[in-house]
Amino acid sequence: SNKSLLMLPGDGIGPEVCQEVRKVLDWMDKRRAVSFDVKEGLVGGAAYDAHKTAITDETMQDAMDADAVLFGAVGGPQYDNLGWDVRPEAGLLRLRKEMDLFANLRPAVTFDALLDASTLKQEVIQGLDIMIIRELTAGVYFGEPRGMQTLPDGTERCIDTQSYTKAEIERVTEVAFDLARKRGSKVHSVEKANVMKTGVFWRQTVSELHKSGKYDDIELHHMYADNCGMQLVRNPKQFDVIVTDNLFGDMLSDVAAMLTGSLGMLPSASLGAVDEFGRRKALYEPVHGSAPDIAGQGMANPLAMLLSFAMTLRYSFDLQEDADLLEQAAQAVLSRGIRTGDIMAAGAEKVSTAQMGDAVCEE
Ligand code: NAI
Ligand code: MG
Repeated sequence: SNKSLLMLPGDGIGPEVCQEVRKVLDWMDKRRAVSFDVKEGLVGGAAYDAHKTAITDETMQDAMDADAVLFGAVGGPQYDNLGWDVRPEAGLLRLRKEMDLFANLRPAVTFDALLDASTLKQEVIQGLDIMIIRELTAGVYFGEPRGMQTLPDGTERCIDTQSYTKAEIERVTEVAFDLARKRGSKVHSVEKANVMKTGVFWRQTVSELHKSGKYDDIELHHMYADNCGMQLVRNPKQFDVIVTDNLFGDMLSDVAAMLTGSLGMLPSASLGAVDEFGRRKALYEPVHGSAPDIAGQGMANPLAMLLSFAMTLRYSFDLQEDADLLEQAAQAVLSRGIRTGDIMAAGAEKVSTAQMGDAVCEE
């Protein structure tokens, strides 16, 4: 039977960029005889408008049942004053929580055609291809206790707690080792073992897993997070796969992303555990938001969304060749000088969202 894909376009430019994925789906059906069972659902403000909730139980169930979820973006000024439980972000947070998406994959890949427009040193970023894996469901963003406290002497203080179980570290490290095996076989594990107990535990747990015998082919390095930030800017090509906790991963993935260009070009994947059917739950989404400032004008760059779909093909559907084709098509379109407004350069041809999608299909 066909693999199933749930599309959740969401708000703002989300539906516009998802429309370009539909073109690629049609192309694959016609030209490669590959098709999927595609369902579509509402999330974020769109779900609120229809059902007064950021995601319905039915859509949530569809996400749990799907082989992969493709998510556009949520939010917009008209929803900014809604209550905590029904605001658009609540839809995405519920998906992440109930699907238990603990590994966030953020690739940083250089597009050679965009190098000229970059203000960074070209030799530093040319040919860059790294993958940052951020732990997404534990650590200091979730640890207890948290919040305000008043000490017996009346002192007010506020606490966040960094907390990791061994299993939480192991499962994200396994994702990193498995992924590295399909890439450059090199993993940098990043923490602050010099000053944090959780850092010591992280380093020890990763080392033990590495020595278990299952990962002898993987070259493992340990690095402190502050040094990693510096090295990403100084010499990013020394990295292949980086695995790190929720907080450091949040920052380091943003730093790495900006080595390579615009928000409109950045894909991501969030992976969960393997379920009883041997299937890994997964949600794919562009890094950007709903961009209300350009929504409805055909100006959005669909490449982040299309590259997120390429990750879907690669990691959920095991269609490596199709993923390669799509990524190469994106590179080729840029080489032809075709640009949406956000990546415009002198002498380039400015195109709409739909024209960019058409050009990718042509390539
Ligand atoms: P944003 O990513 O939506 O936009 C930031 C800037 O980048 C804007 O000037 C926008 O026009 C531009 N931009 C973003 N994506 C683009 C694309 N594909 N092509 C061309 N230009 C693009 O972030 P912002 O403005 O902070 O948030 C806007 C709304 O999106 C808010 O409601 C926010 O909560 C939501 N948001 C949702 C996210 C999600 O659904 N995962 C993530 C980030 C923000
Ligand atoms: Mg961030």
